Amino acid sequence: MNLLLAISGWDPAPWKAKLSALLPGRRIDTLETLEDRAGVAYALTWRHPEGALQGLPGLKAIFSLGAGVDHVFADRRLPDAPVVRVVDADLTQRMSEWVVMQVLLHHRQFRRYDRQQRAKIWSEDEAQPAAREVRVGVLGLGVLGRDAAAKLKALGFDVAGWSRSPKAVAGMATYHGGDGLDALLARSDILVSLLPLTAQTRGLLNAELFAKLPRDGRVGPALVNAGRGGSQVEADIAAALAAGVLKGASLDVFEAEPLPANSPLWGRDDVFISPHNAAISAPEAVTRFIAGEIAAFERGAPLRHLAERQRGY
Ligand code: NDP
Ligand code: OXD
Repeated sequence: MNLLLAISGWDPAPWKAKLSALLPGRRIDTLETLEDRAGVAYALTWRHPEGALQGLPGLKAIFSLGAGVDHVFADRRLPDAPVVRVVDADLTQRMSEWVVMQVLLHHRQFRRYDRQQRAKIWSEDEAQPAAREVRVGVLGLGVLGRDAAAKLKALGFDVAGWSRSPKAVAGMATYHGGDGLDALLARSDILVSLLPLTAQTRGLLNAELFAKLPRDGRVGPALVNAGRGGSQVEADIAAALAAGVLKGASLDVFEAEPLPANSPLWGRDDVFISPHNAAISAPEAVTRFIAGEIAAFERGAPLRHLAERQRGY
């Protein structure tokens, strides 16, 4: 019942240390130290190299080290084992903090006052809409979207959400599917995307979609994306900002990461950029989650939080 840490781009050391403490007596290898391939029962991955999980005959489950699984399903030689994603209060709370901060940044004109402060300008804006006058649309009503939507609602924003399948959320208008998207967009001064990257969501946040956002809002239209960069067309975002179709954007994820130095988005002060850390996978919280899921599974409980290959999330 050994573990394999198949990680690229992150230091495996803190993960190994936390897992060793939580699962004493287990062998925990990285791709570099792995010799006993038959002994691996669980593979824990973050952007593992293509094909790296092949040839593990005892593999029982693949754990993504994040909530997203696009990096797992990107492997065209992925073995046929269940894929578990992170569903953890720590990660969810971090994401909601980031989303709330970005919605408030656009609502309370943070960039304007930041600019004014640097220029020592004391100038009030007459337009100070209340949160209830600001319509926020949340794309993706999963674990993260629902929590962020609830916290925005608690602040008084007029929140609605969109998902693939119908959802009933108390006190919130919900839309679903292709037909529901236009209705959601038409009432979104601030559009928040917490969508997974799938064949259906790739390139969704594009010029055609931005043109459907309302022009009569008290703020915005503004785009907030912490789902995946593959869902956005950055050339369209830059063009929409330049044309005033979008008034601002907050982006944590990008088509290519790190965001290339020549991206026009870097130089725009109507864009807030963070380096894909809206909700980090903290080793302490995520290893606790995974160790708990492994312990329950070995006691005979079914694996939970399974991603579906067919739908891509
Ligand atoms: P979930 O799987 O819980 O939720 C996904 C939501 O998206 C569901 O509501 C789903 O609909 C909806 N959805 C999927 N495809 C479509 C579609 N084609 N049309 C409409 N709705 C769709 O995921 P989480 O909420 O846990 O996470 C969402 C994403 O956030 C992750 O996949 C990851 O990409 C990103 N993320 C980013 C982080 C960061 O730091 N930037 C950190 C963690 C995650 P339905 O309810 O009908 O299934
Ligand atoms: C995740 C991420 O998927 O950090 O958890 O992007």
